[in-house]
This record gives sequence, structure tokens and C-alpha cells, in this order.
Amino acid sequence: MQTYYWRLSETGDNGPIIARAAAFIRQGQVVAFPTETVYGLGADGLDEAAVERIYAAKGRPSDNPLILHIACRQDLEPLSRGLNANARELARRFWPGPLTLVVPKSALVPDRVSAGLPTVAVRYPANSYAQALIQASGRPIAAPSANISGRPSPTTGRDVLEDMAGKIACVLEGGPCGIGLESTVVDTTSPVPCILRPGGITYEMLEEALGAVELDPALRGQEALRPKAPGMKYRHYAPQAPLYLLEGEAVNCLPQLAAQALQAGLQVGVLADEGLIAQTGSALGSRPGLVLCSWGRDKAGLAAGLFSLLRNFDRRGAEVILAAGVDEAGLGLAIMNRLRKAAGYNSLRLEAGRLVLPEGKIRPRWLV
Ligand code: TXA
Ligand code: MG
Repeated sequence: MQTYYWRLSETGDNGPIIARAAAFIRQGQVVAFPTETVYGLGADGLDEAAVERIYAAKGRPSDNPLILHIACRQDLEPLSRGLNANARELARRFWPGPLTLVVPKSALVPDRVSAGLPTVAVRYPANSYAQALIQASGRPIAAPSANISGRPSPTTGRDVLEDMAGKIACVLEGGPCGIGLESTVVDTTSPVPCILRPGGITYEMLEEALGAVELDPALRGQEALRPKAPGMKYRHYAPQAPLYLLEGEAVNCLPQLAAQALQAGLQVGVLADEGLIAQTGSALGSRPGLVLCSWGRDKAGLAAGLFSLLRNFDRRGAEVILAAGVDEAGLGLAIMNRLRKAAGYNSLRLEAGRLVLPEGKIRPRWLV
């Protein structure tokens, strides 16, 4: 299949491009489009056959439900069988934006979208190109992140092409995503709303809005617990090279660990903030086989750059990646959730002066 790549413009008239993309949606085809979080792989959310094409393009397990994207708050009503006060309040406060609400589903929503669950996930994205596409299509757009299942989510149209060329009708290029991590998913059907996936709308913001909010216990950093959002159980967001995440005080060992992995003959990727990258650079000098990537200074910068930095390590042939963790306040919760999954829960911590991995994880040979 030919995949068109159409660049949207901040100043020009995008009408004709949006109209062609919307026509694809109405014909049951799959269209990749930008949102403020990550790029989505969209199709007509009320058409089972179209939704099937999303699963096929992504290679997505069929027990993993999709998010329906709408372009105004009122469009939530017909998709849901009864909204409670919490759902209404969250929609009022945070939409349009990086928040997905899980609500009881109405008969309008195909089972293929909700993967057989009695609930459906709905989001009203803030990105104006996404809004224009949904409006022009005239129906809710079902869209997962536009990556091959298991790969880091795409945050530019070029990332999407890397995974989807030849598999979908078109990619709308709208530049880099502002937030860079997938939306916060909140189950509004439980007595106290529960965060199933942390994202740009933080725990603190939700607590402030609702008074009380729960966090799915599976998000506390251990691998063993089974998450409530079906999609959160897969190894996800993963670059090709194994990634080790340095948590807490272990971040201070980063230069030394990079040196050990280089010594073992590996191409080493390092992901850390500006200061630690500078420190690692001056400790090791520039060496062939060492790829240093700084995410800047603040968590917003890390969130926005995280997935493209992970993809970049693949492009540059890293054989092992060492990433420095951050604290879990604010956006830190979402960042650490994605990093732990990208690492397959291979988190290194300092205990009594020794670097340890969680039980059952294999110590790599360079970790002496
Ligand atoms: O930011 C985002 O949310 C992006 C953009 C494109 O909007 N979309 C996205 O979709 O990340 P996806 O399919 O990659 O992730 C959707 C998550 C999965 O973890 C899925 O299991 C969960 O939401 N989910 C969807 N419907 C659900 C439901 N009814 N109950 C519980 N979890 C649900
Ligand atoms: Mg995804």
C-alpha cells in the first residue's frame, strides 16, 4: 500500500490535506495524525472493519482496547451509558488535553474498540490538527499510539513513517508533540477515580480537582502486579538495545557503569540530564562506542524528548543503554513508568554500597 506523507503548516491552509485525510477515515482507512501527547493511528471508531485495520497495522494484541478521540465535550454523551459527577468534572477541567476518561460504554461503541470490556476510553485532544481531522471526519476516531506494538511511541511524523510506511493510507506530519508521553488514563467508574496510566495530567492535578484519586497499585514500580489497563501489562516503549534504569542514589554510578560497559566492548548509550551527561563526558572523554544523550534540565523536556531519544539510540546502534531516573513528583511519575517499562523493570539501585537488580533479573556481564 502507498503511504502518503503530508506536512501540515502552522500558517498555511491545511483544509485540502485535512479533507483528504478525513475522506480516508470515512472510507475505513487508517490515518496517522499528531496529538499533543504522541501520534495516533486513527480509524473510524464506529466501524469494526476499520478498527480491525488498526490492530493489523500495529500488530497489537486484540485484548487491548482503544481510545476514542472526540472534538467537543458533548460528543462524550452518546458514547457513554451514564456519566457520573467525577467524569463530568474531569472533562470540564482538563479537556481538551492529555487526559483519557474510562466510562461505561454505550451500545454505539463496537466491542472491537473496547476489546469486550463494558467500558470505553475517550479523549478530547488539545492539538488543533487532531481536532480538525476529527471534525472533518464527522465521527469519533479510534486511535492507539502510532508505533508498532512494543516500540517507543512516535512523537514526530517521521517516527511514524519508520514503523508504518506501506501499512496505512497516510501520515499527517504536524511536527514534534508538545508533551511527548501518552495521556493519563483515569477509570471514572470506580467509587474513587483510579489512575490506570500516568501522563501529562499529573496525580497532583487530579487530586486537587477531585479531592481523592487512587493509583493502580501496579504503577508503584514493581513488575509482579497485574495492571488494570490491559495495555499496561506489555513490555512497552522499548528500544532494541537492553536498557538499565538507574534509580535513586544509583544515578551517581552512571559514569563508572558506562566505563565498564565500554570496557566490555559494547556500544553504550547514556541518557541523563545535562549535568550528568557533562560529568560522564568529562570522566570518559569522547570515545568511539559512546553515545551521550542529554534531555536537558527539566522533566517537561525529558517527557517531550524521551521516546525520540530512545529511538535515536536504535538508529545509532547502541548495544546497551544506561538511563538516569528522576523523582516521581509531577510528570516524574509518568516518566518513571515509561522508563521502567522500557527497561523491562531492570532497575539498578544502591543497597549497602552495592548495585542490585530486582530479584530474578540477570546481572549483565559488564556489571561487575
Ligand atoms: O495520548 C494517548 O492516549 C495516545 C494518543 C494517540 O491519544 N493514545 C494512546 O493509545 O496512547 P494506546 O492505545 O497506545 O493506549 C491506550 C491505553 C492502553 O493502556 C489501554 O489498555 C487503555 O488505554 N485502555 C483503553 N480502553 C480501556 C478501558 N476501557 N479500560 C481500561 N483501560 C483502557
Ligand atoms: Mg501505545
